[in-house]
Amino acid sequence: MKSIASTPHLISPDLPLQANDSVLKLAVLASGNGSNFEAIVQAIADGKLRAEIPILIYNNPGAAVAARAQRWGIPALLMNHRDYQSREAFDFEIAQTLKQYGVDWIVMAGWMRVVTQVLIEAFPNRVINIHPSLLPSFPGIRAIEQALKAGVKIAGCTVHIVTLEVDNGPILMQAAVPVFPDDTPETLHARVQIQEHEILPRAIALVASQAAKS
Ligand code: GRF
Repeated sequence: MKSIASTPHLISPDLPLQANDSVLKLAVLASGNGSNFEAIVQAIADGKLRAEIPILIYNNPGAAVAARAQRWGIPALLMNHRDYQSREAFDFEIAQTLKQYGVDWIVMAGWMRVVTQVLIEAFPNRVINIHPSLLPSFPGIRAIEQALKAGVKIAGCTVHIVTLEVDNGPILMQAAVPVFPDDTPETLHARVQIQEHEILPRAIALVASQAAKS
């Protein structure tokens, strides 16, 4: 029987959520809806992730993620990329801001901007992204549509470290979901998002534990 919450294939399902005691300082960058942002916040509230989010940065005025942040009492800062001369200038401002907040890790949770080396070099190996495909398949925009067009029978999502090449950095965690014959981009994306919300907090805990050991 098919259901939207069909059993996923979650990589590292038994992973302890966080092996070290320190409280991570995460900044979240988001452009739109913000369900992944809220999944991180919920994981923190549930005691599954020892972290705090001193700042959310969003780039689109009116993005729903800002209202989610407000509901949780998390400071949200609008930084509109349209106000900057270049991608680098925008990333420089973001990096400066996040340094002021003492942030350790950046999580791009639906951040629809291509990142430059300015941000990556300011936070080397400490920028994480979630992408709605089983990378390296279907990088870039419209990953769900790409998967449906290719006719794959298994889709999913990936959390990875951000590098200069879009959606190409080291993979931290993935989850897979079935694709059904009558799927639309909306139904498949909804199924993928359930798994995104599972693996994103876990992947954050994983990298934090690994970084603490190294
Ligand atoms: C997610 O599907 C994520 O993989 C992609 O953008 C979407 C953001 O969703 N990068 P939300 O804003 O977190 O609901």
